[in-house]
Formats: sequence, C-alpha cells, structure tokens
Amino acid sequence: DMALYTLGNHTLDTQHPDMDVLTALIGDEGVDAELFHEANRVKTEEFGSKVFVRGIIEFSNYCRCTCAYCGISAQMVHAKRYRMPPDELTDAAVRAAETYRTVILQSGEDRFYTAEMLADIVRRIKQRANCAVTLSIGERTLEEYRLMREAGADRFLLKHETANAVLYESLHGVPLETRLDAQRRIRALGFELGGGFMVGLPGQTDETLAQDLMTLVYEGVEMAGIGPFIAHPDTELGGAPDGDPHKTLKVLALARLLLPKCHLPSTTALNVKGGMKNALLCGADVIMQKATPFEYRKLYDIYPGRDALEVPLEEQYETLRKRLAEFGLSAE
Ligand code: 5AD
Repeated sequence: DMALYTLGNHTLDTQHPDMDVLTALIGDEGVDAELFHEANRVKTEEFGSKVFVRGIIEFSNYCRCTCAYCGISAQMVHAKRYRMPPDELTDAAVRAAETYRTVILQSGEDRFYTAEMLADIVRRIKQRANCAVTLSIGERTLEEYRLMREAGADRFLLKHETANAVLYESLHGVPLETRLDAQRRIRALGFELGGGFMVGLPGQTDETLAQDLMTLVYEGVEMAGIGPFIAHPDTELGGAPDGDPHKTLKVLALARLLLPKCHLPSTTALNVKGGMKNALLCGADVIMQKATPFEYRKLYDIYPGRDALEVPLEEQYETLRKRLAEFGLSAE
C-alpha cells in the first residue's frame, strides 16, 4: 500500500497516522535521508517540477492581538504602524496580479478594515484582475467571513500556530478552540483553508509537533505553512532560542507524506534560515514573494531577518525563476 512508509524501524501508516510513530520519527535523526527522499518523491508525483509562486501584500501592521512571539503584536508600543488605504491596496494587488496568479492580502488583526471594506477590496481586485485572492487577516465572525467569500475571495490562511492547548493559551491569552473554531467557519464557507504552525516555540516538544501534524489532518487543510520560530528581540520571547530549521524540514516532509496534495510553502521564516532550496526538495511546492509597496516593507516586522529588499516584482520573479531552473524546478 502506497500509504505505508517504512522509515528506519518505524512504520508510518498515513491513512491512520499514529501519534507515537510521528513523535518517534521527528526525534530519530537516522531516518532523515529516507524521509526527505520520500517527501520529494511524493511532491514530484503530485506536482511534477512545478513550484507555485504567490505574491503577498502586507497591507497593515496594526494588530489587536498580543501573541507573545510576534513583533507587530499590540504590545509592541514602539512599533511604527502603517495601514494601506483601500484604493492603494486594490491598485497594488492588481499590479501584483500582472506577475502572480495568486495574490495574498495579509495584515495584523486590524479592525479599521470592516468586513464590508475588505469585501469591496476583493470585489474590485477580482473585477480588474484575473487572479486568485487569498486572505490572511485573522479571526472574524462567520458573517464577516461570508461577506469576503461572497465578494470572491478564494482562500484563507489562518494557522493554528501550536496544537498544544496549554502552550497556545499561554502565548495568545485565548483558548486554542477560538482559533480552531475560526478555521471551521472558514472551511464551512467553502474557502480553501491554509493552516500551519511554528516549529521550536519555547516549551514545544516532539509530541507537540506530532499533534500539530495531526491537527492539519483533522482540520482538512488544503495548504499549510510550517516555519521555524524566530525570536524577535522586542517581544517577551526575545531571549528564547530560534527554532531548528532542520527539524522544520523534517516536520514539513512528514506533512507531505500525510497530506500528499496539500500546498506547502517554503515559509518566509524557513527562507530566512537559508532553507528555500532544501524546503523545495523536502516536500514544499509553494514560494511566496513580497509584493508589498516598498515604503511599508521594513515596518512589517513580525520577526527579524525578513528581507525588505526593494526589487521590482517582475525582476524578483525572474530571479526566482532562474534560481528554480538551476535545481530543475519551474515557476508556475
Ligand atoms: N517567528 C516565526 N514565525 C512567526 N510568525 C509570527 N511571529 C513569528 C516568529 N517570531 C508567523 C506566524 C503567523 C505568520 C504570519 O507569521 O505563524 O501565522
């Protein structure tokens, strides 16, 4: 059966994944080469040499949340805030759609933008450009999400961040169920749902990561962003060690085996750690490139090391296309 993998002395049944097997695989360095090889094989079987390239516009760094790891949380009182006016955002998205077939609109949880405003922005983008629109704007009510969906938004990214309920609540100040409920509302409206989590959060164990993978399966995500935690010096986790990029790759590879058809980006946080090529050879099939207007890039400071280079979109895409070609992959 194709769903059965023998990795070292572990047997992973991807139809009925076992927490203990996943935990053991994450902790066993002896399986890495086989695991990465299998993940790349599955990815190639599903997507060939294609890499899906998306453009992301970070349109506001105002946020009402107090996530302990995040450099734009409401607690970062010294962070310089910006918010793009709706017309400017719409124009930027239409321009991004000349280079990218999917445009992601991401922001902090900024209530300045009502659901009606966001729906209007999506509607105007879809009228003027032939692209998929993905929203990444956090938790809203079912009725708010419905307006955005009816306006034509196709996909929605909302990570569960960590599946350990105690850890989730200590980092966010609200229960994990709040987040899982929001994901269920998004799914119920017919959005393609993108989930995901961070690797290397302080207090996380290999068992937590196994739980994180199981959560992706239970939530039925169609996309999953899995990235290393990167300590932001101004946050309360500023002194904590960064997540291990190698462990992140292992968890990414396991996600590919568990969810063969799932879109898995080489997350920006993983790219920061030098891992784009590795991620694309360990199961990832998506790259996100910045399409945020230059003047705002430095201010979207979720974690350190994110590039704020001022390269025009077509040139940025062309550079990526050439890099991908060097390792036998083609940009879609
Ligand atoms: N390190 C890594 N990833 C982070 N994110 C937020 N803060 C950090 C950090 N310090 C990720 C979260 C969020 C996404 C937008 O960025 O997973 O969902």
